Amino acid sequence: MSIDVILGMQWGDEGKGRVVDFYAREYGVVARFGGGDNAGHSLVVAGRTIALRLTPSGVLQPHAELFIGGGCVVNPWTLLEEFRMLAALGVDVERVSVSDRAHVVLPQHVDADKRREADREQALGTTGRGIGPAYADRASRVGLTVREFCESDAPEAQRLRPHVVDGVAYLHDRLERGVRVLAEGAQGTMLDVVYGTYPFVTSSSTIAGGACTGLGVGPKSIGRVIGVAKAYCTRVGSGPFPSELDNREGEYLREQGHEFGTVTGRPRRCGWFDAVAARYAVRVDGVDAIALTKLDVLSGLERIGIVTAYGADGAVETEYVDGWREQIRGARRITELPQAARSYVERIQRLAGVPIELISVGPEREELVR
Ligand code: GDP
Ligand code: IMO
Ligand code: MG
Repeated sequence: MSIDVILGMQWGDEGKGRVVDFYAREYGVVARFGGGDNAGHSLVVAGRTIALRLTPSGVLQPHAELFIGGGCVVNPWTLLEEFRMLAALGVDVERVSVSDRAHVVLPQHVDADKRREADREQALGTTGRGIGPAYADRASRVGLTVREFCESDAPEAQRLRPHVVDGVAYLHDRLERGVRVLAEGAQGTMLDVVYGTYPFVTSSSTIAGGACTGLGVGPKSIGRVIGVAKAYCTRVGSGPFPSELDNREGEYLREQGHEFGTVTGRPRRCGWFDAVAARYAVRVDGVDAIALTKLDVLSGLERIGIVTAYGADGAVETEYVDGWREQIRGARRITELPQAARSYVERIQRLAGVPIELISVGPEREELVR
């Protein structure tokens, strides 16, 4: 049985959480393969927003088991707080298992993250969650595994212990029983520690290959790869952003899209859809199909840009298509979208080179065009 992967194709916050929540209906296990509580994956169900940092976004599907893989770094305090939040909503968190091979983010990592940011000539704009220092400790072979943490006498160790499993045995047992597994990425391809816009990246492997190392499965176990891309681009933190709009159109996207960070509340930088970055992600991740999110945010723009090429000195080539005035949150079929919106989607599909199989037109669970 193979593992399908859902990951971000841009700089994070593409809407992975809500896309995973939708696909999770068809999977027995939803597994996070990387990152930590730098992630913020929002689900909106019946008007209520649930922001998840560590728990996989399949948690609102009552049948699904959830798994936090060895590729992740886990802040036990955040995770236990998230469990309390979910339990208060009546969500069963006993279904959440954590790999013994994940590493622990400690208060000293959080302090080091903040200190290193202050010491840099140009700050990266990290989420300040200690992610970089925790991964650095792992690579330096001085980190603390979840297994070791649970053997310690920290009060949180006791509460985490019932959730900790031999991650390799856990996942392969299920695969051998024919259970379908969905791997959930955090951050996005352009934030990958190797293939992103280094050094303005996170410290983990966010690309499809990260699902193999982060879950302990071979490359032949990977089935489909679904790339999540926003209908425009955003970036929170510093670093290259070729399609960035420093004008009223960028402001419009930020306001209409509520582009403020889930974790830090920072305003997100906004820009046009970047087809160069999308093609890059299709290559690096082996994307089979795209879930295009937040198309509704573009309603009301006179024209919509798409960056099609990078030139010298940071210049970009941008083509423009007509916008549309109609609100589209009520659309459920492609034929219910205005012609200009359909043309825009078709243009992105052609430039990216892979089919768009799902479009979201609002944050609510059912606001999807299929
Ligand atoms: P993730 O990190 O990739 O899971 O994305 P985030 O949850 O950080 O950011 C996506 C934000 O956009 C969340 O606030 C979602 O509720 C919201 N969102 C997701 N899809 C749509 C959509 O189709 N339309 C609108 N307007 N908002 C959306
Ligand atoms: P989700 O999973 C958007 C960004 C930070 C910073 C850089 C490094 O919600 O898409 P870190 O704290 O990881 O050392 O910060 O990466 N970043 C994200 N941006 N979405 C995320 O996660 C992010 N996780 C990290 O803003 O630029
Ligand atoms: Mg997010």
